[in-house]
Amino acid sequence: MLNRYPTACQTQAESASDLGRRRSEAPSTGTIARMTGEIAIASKVAPGTRARLPDGFVWGAATSAYQVEGATTADGRGESIWDRFTRQPGTIGDGSTGDTACDHYHRWERDVALMAELGLGAYRFSVAWPRVVPAGRGVVNPAGLDFYERLVDGLLAAGITPLPTLYHWDLPQALEDAGGWPVRATADAFADYAVAVVERLGDRVGTWMTINEPYVPAYLGYISGEHAPGRNDVDAGLAACHHLLVAHGLALGRIRELAPSARAGIVLNFTPTVPASDDPADVELAELREDLENRWFIEALAGRQYPPRVVERYRWRGEEIVAGDAELIAQPIDVLGINYYTRQIVRADGAGHEPPGPTTAMGWEIHPESFGTLLRSIHSRYGFPRYVITENGAAMRDHRRVDGRVDDADRIDYLRSHLAEVAAAIADGMPIEGYMVWSLLDNFEWAYGYSHRFGIVEVDPATLERIPKASALWYADVARTGVVS
Ligand code: GCO
Repeated sequence: MLNRYPTACQTQAESASDLGRRRSEAPSTGTIARMTGEIAIASKVAPGTRARLPDGFVWGAATSAYQVEGATTADGRGESIWDRFTRQPGTIGDGSTGDTACDHYHRWERDVALMAELGLGAYRFSVAWPRVVPAGRGVVNPAGLDFYERLVDGLLAAGITPLPTLYHWDLPQALEDAGGWPVRATADAFADYAVAVVERLGDRVGTWMTINEPYVPAYLGYISGEHAPGRNDVDAGLAACHHLLVAHGLALGRIRELAPSARAGIVLNFTPTVPASDDPADVELAELREDLENRWFIEALAGRQYPPRVVERYRWRGEEIVAGDAELIAQPIDVLGINYYTRQIVRADGAGHEPPGPTTAMGWEIHPESFGTLLRSIHSRYGFPRYVITENGAAMRDHRRVDGRVDDADRIDYLRSHLAEVAAAIADGMPIEGYMVWSLLDNFEWAYGYSHRFGIVEVDPATLERIPKASALWYADVARTGVVS
C-alpha cells in the first residue's frame, strides 16, 4: 500500500504489531494529554478566527526538483534513484514517471512570472544532485549549475527570494549502486556536491536548506521500500538516518566556510501521533512512532541522543556512529524548516478504520489543532532561533468549472485553518518567518504519481498549461494583505 506514513521497520526486525498501524479510532482526550504531555502546549485558535500575519512575513510556494522539473536527461543530467525506481513495474500507483513532470526545467520563466503575478515573496525549490554531479561524486556538470543560476537570477529579478534545498530525495543512481545512504561515503559526496552549488550560487542565496525530511528517504526508501531505491532493510534504514544527518552536518560546515553571511538549516517533517485508546499497547505504539518519526532527527540536531526506545526496539548497534558525529550533527542552525500535513492515530491491534475528522484526497485527516500544538511544542522544547513553514498544503478533489476555473474551496479552507495556527503561534512569540505552501504546481506525488494534486496551480496533464486555482487567487490576496480572510 502506498502511504506517506509507511509500515516502517515492520518488514524485518519486528512484526506488524508495532509499526504497521495507521490512523484509526479517535483517541480519548485524556490519552492525548498524556501522550503529548511533556512538550505540548495546546493550540488556542478559536474557530473562525481571522488571522493577521506580521509585516515582513514571507509568503511563498514550494516544489522539488524531481517532482516538477522533468527533462531528466537534458544537458548532462545523470540518472537518479527515482529515474530507476519509477521504471520498475508496480512502484508508482499510476505507472507514471518524472520524465516530463511539469517541465519546469523548460518552463521556469513562466512559473517565475506566475509567482510574481501572485505576489509571492519566496520560492522554495530543490537542486537536483544528478544535474550538478551526474555520477554523484567527481566531475561537476556546469550545465546543471547553469539551470539553477538562471532560475535564481530570474527569481531575484522578479523580486522573489530563492530558498533552495540541496537534497529532496533524488540521489544519483551511481551512489546508490555504491551502497546509497547506508554508506558513509554518500555523506562525504553530498558535502562535495554542496560545495559545487554554493560556490556557484553562494553570492545570491541568503538561506540554504540542506536536506528535506530525512525521515522519508531513510524509512520509505530503505525500510518500507515504498520510495526509491525500494529496499527493505531495517539496519540499512537506520544507517541511512544517521548518514543523512552526517551529510547535513558536513554540508552545513561547507556552507559556513563558503557563504559565511548566509543562513542555513534543515527541513523536517512532523506527523503528531496519538494512540487510539488508553490501552497501554496503543500508547506504547504511539510513543514508538513519535520517537521514530518525529523525535529522532530533531533530538539529534538539538544535541540530544537518539531516542533510546527506537534504538532498543530495533537493536540498533549504531556502528555507523563515528567520534565527533554528535557535535557535527548538532552544529547550530539558523533556521528550522517545518513540514506539516496531518496527524496520525495508531492502534496496536492493527484494526484500522477511518480518521475521526474530515480528510484530504490522500485520506489524511485535516487537523489544524495538531499543527498549532506541534509548533508551540517544537519551540518550547528546542528553541531554534527561527522557523519557516517549508511545507503545508493538501491534495483535494479539485474540479474544473465550465468557465475553465478550478474550484478548490476545500483547499482554501485547509490553508485558512492552518495559517490561523501559524498566526497564533507567532502571536505567542514563536519566530516563524514565512510559509511556503505545498505546492505551487500539481506535480509528481512520488509513489502516487500524478493521481493526487497538491498545487494551488493546476497543471493540465495533456498540455502542461498552468491554470491558477481559486486557492492561488485567494493566496495572492492573503500575501498582499497579510490577512487570512
Ligand atoms: C514531503 C515532500 C513533498 C511531498 C508533499 C506531499 O513532504 O513528503 O517534501 O515532496 O510531495 O509533502 O506529500
